Amino acid sequence: MNVLLTGGCGYIGSHVAVVLMSEGHDAVIVDNLSNSRREVVDHIAQIVGRPPTFYQGDVGEFEFIRDVIRRHRIDSVIHLAGFKSVGESVQRPLQYYQNNVCGALGLLHAMEAESVSSLVFSSSATIYGDPQYLPVDEAHPQHVINAYGRSKLHIEDMLRDICISRPSLGVICLRYFNPVGAHPSGLIGDRPNGIPNNLMPYVVQVACGERDFLSVFGGDYRTPDGTGVRDYIHVMDLAEGHVAALNYLSTNNGWHAFNVGTGRGYSVLEMIRAFEGESGRAIPYKITARREGDVACSYADIRAAALELNWKATRSLEDMCSSAWRFQSRLSKA
Ligand code: NAD
Ligand code: UD1
Repeated sequence: MNVLLTGGCGYIGSHVAVVLMSEGHDAVIVDNLSNSRREVVDHIAQIVGRPPTFYQGDVGEFEFIRDVIRRHRIDSVIHLAGFKSVGESVQRPLQYYQNNVCGALGLLHAMEAESVSSLVFSSSATIYGDPQYLPVDEAHPQHVINAYGRSKLHIEDMLRDICISRPSLGVICLRYFNPVGAHPSGLIGDRPNGIPNNLMPYVVQVACGERDFLSVFGGDYRTPDGTGVRDYIHVMDLAEGHVAALNYLSTNNGWHAFNVGTGRGYSVLEMIRAFEGESGRAIPYKITARREGDVACSYADIRAAALELNWKATRSLEDMCSSAWRFQSRLSKA
């Protein structure tokens, strides 16, 4: 299959490229490098043994995307390109709607013009808001509280409408829980610009001495140890979930949404302990105030993906921590 990967130089997209290409598919990456580096393309090539096709450009540019789709006879699209910082989206909502929603529109016009009928979209568990029940299933009410989450929800809704008007189209929205970890080679991984917002990249930087300590946001949640609980999923499992989604779309059309998690939650303190165990480094931390917008506990009901996509995460928490550490150690040595 010829697959267009938008945002394929990013954290998740680079792992999806590796898994797709390792299974014999051809990956065509379009990325404007607004949050990634060109060298990722070389690292993908190093891991797989052949390079992906790469175009630096914007996913919202209709003529450009249409040309890429036509030139490479694209069968399916995996749309990962977008901005993803919750805090930034609150400060700069226009930029988030422009890049995420308008970007998706440009891509969707180009797909329609070239009759591409299969799309996997990177959505987020953030659209569920504060869980009303656990585990969170796909029918859970949606409640977004920031522009990032709303941009994901708008795109999901647009896709739903487009599927009604074009019955040959197949769309899967994958609602990621908390992707962590890295490829076992340590060549690709999560490398945020500036101060990390997410837990794992921050922990990794404390471990290698780039930051003094971790602030644990809240120690008084109604969870077993008082710290926030999340469903962390290994990015390689997540990447394999995309291939399962594409396979599903080869025999199914219409609009679908699936949670992508492991179905079990770990607290911040459990994550710290697991990481210390795998890295052999101490993670100094201080319990601080809760972070605005955080929920106490969130983990996925994963039965739908298991049943429909025939896919389940298999990698352990230890694997998530050791691979993240291997990636960071390689970066620190470079
Ligand atoms: P990332 O920032 O590492 O990757 C996104 C990539 O898209 C980057 O390489 C960036 O340069 C590119 N990009 C952004 N806007 C673009 C545009 N207009 N045109 C072309 N390229 C563009 O992020 P990630 O963690 O790999 O996330 C991938 C997708 O998954 C995003 O849509 C994100 O919202 C979603 N998601 C991520 C998480 C997570 O925890 N990482 C959780 C839920 C959902
Ligand atoms: C956050 C976003 C979510 C987004 C996801 C992936 C918020 C409110 N939510 O989810 O919309 O889809 O990232 O990009 O921003 N923690 C600390 N100290 C830190 C960092 C995090 O204690 O320095 C805690 C958090 O309070 C939380 C857990 O670690 O309990 C995980 O946090 P994080 O990695 O940011 O993910 P989410 O908050 O689940």
